[in-house]
Amino acid sequence: MLNEKDVEYMVRGGLRHMKAYTPVDPIDLLTEKAVAKAGGTAKLDGNENPYGCSPRVQKALSEYKEFNRYPDPDQRVVRNALAKYTGAKAESIVAGAGSDDLIDIILRLFLEPGDKVINCPPTFGMYPFCTDIAGGVVTKVPRKRDFSLDIPAIKTAADKNTKVTFIASPNNPSGNQASIDEIKELLGLDLIVVVDEAYVEFSGNSMLGMVPQYANLIVLRTFSKWAGIAGLRAGYGVCPCNIVPYMMKIKQPYNINLAAQVAILESLKDVDYLQKTVKAMVAEREVLYKGLKQFKWLKPYPSVANFILCAVLDRSAKDVYLGLQKRGIFIRYFETPELKDYIRISVGRPGDTVNVIAALNDM
Ligand SMILES: Cc1ncc(COP(=O)(O)O)c(C=O)c1O
Repeated sequence: MLNEKDVEYMVRGGLRHMKAYTPVDPIDLLTEKAVAKAGGTAKLDGNENPYGCSPRVQKALSEYKEFNRYPDPDQRVVRNALAKYTGAKAESIVAGAGSDDLIDIILRLFLEPGDKVINCPPTFGMYPFCTDIAGGVVTKVPRKRDFSLDIPAIKTAADKNTKVTFIASPNNPSGNQASIDEIKELLGLDLIVVVDEAYVEFSGNSMLGMVPQYANLIVLRTFSKWAGIAGLRAGYGVCPCNIVPYMMKIKQPYNINLAAQVAILESLKDVDYLQKTVKAMVAEREVLYKGLKQFKWLKPYPSVANFILCAVLDRSAKDVYLGLQKRGIFIRYFETPELKDYIRISVGRPGDTVNVIAALNDM
């Protein structure tokens, strides 16, 4: 009879030793910590929309009567609405439970065990995480000191076993974007180039219109950031039309649940409202940047997203993170060699910026 250890050894070798993804804490856990410590919270660790979702989403969800039904596996209504919103063809769109789901689908679709994925850290942790799970191998091509892409190094690293590269633009956590010329150079390589535009609504610089011209370009988008529905999990990919049937075939059949579907449709009916919140965040980003720049021991990096990466000079970045946490302010600290001297602060409401700056002054 198998014992516990035997069963553990049955877990796929690569997964037994794989590093887990480090997610942000849920708000109730943070609130508990903050109430115990400070009496209030500013949740600035997840690059979420602090203004919440469209009121239309709240209302439609409370009135929806069909949650007992399964959602449409072909995502027809959602894909048509996304086509109208983006200008892309519905046949080129796949929706997912967040763009995380699309990252996973793409890697499961293209990777044979041992195939390589080029990752350009520091960047979004889900790319190496999903590569590991899909049985692929990550080839690291670090970004340059200013966090721009090292295009010659990517070209050198791309060999015949390399299938995919992910380029977040704007990049998380550095907040800078790739240029069209850089992406075009990468599209000349024999691999799939996935441009992850999770934060594009804050930068306004999309490559989505280029998808029909390239057989190897996929652009990912999400409703988590600009539309304020991170908790409902809604994202989409705009892909070459011939690849879409494969993605639709291997995705979880009901990956867009009915609540997410309702939320997507209502958000798209309320784009003007949501854009006002995006505008408020973009304006607040500049206030936060100026505030952070006043500190001699911080070096904020210019950002076109809804967060700011800061190098912490002459003191421990982890202590700054913990010091803010003690004061009820939750930001992101990454326990990785390349980011150990940095903190990332999401843009909140004006009151959050005031609290962050006051807390930093107090440290
Ligand atoms: C660059 C990037 N891509 C994708 C995502 C995931 O977004 P979603 O919530 O749609 O899964 C994030 C979330 O932080 C991100 O930073």
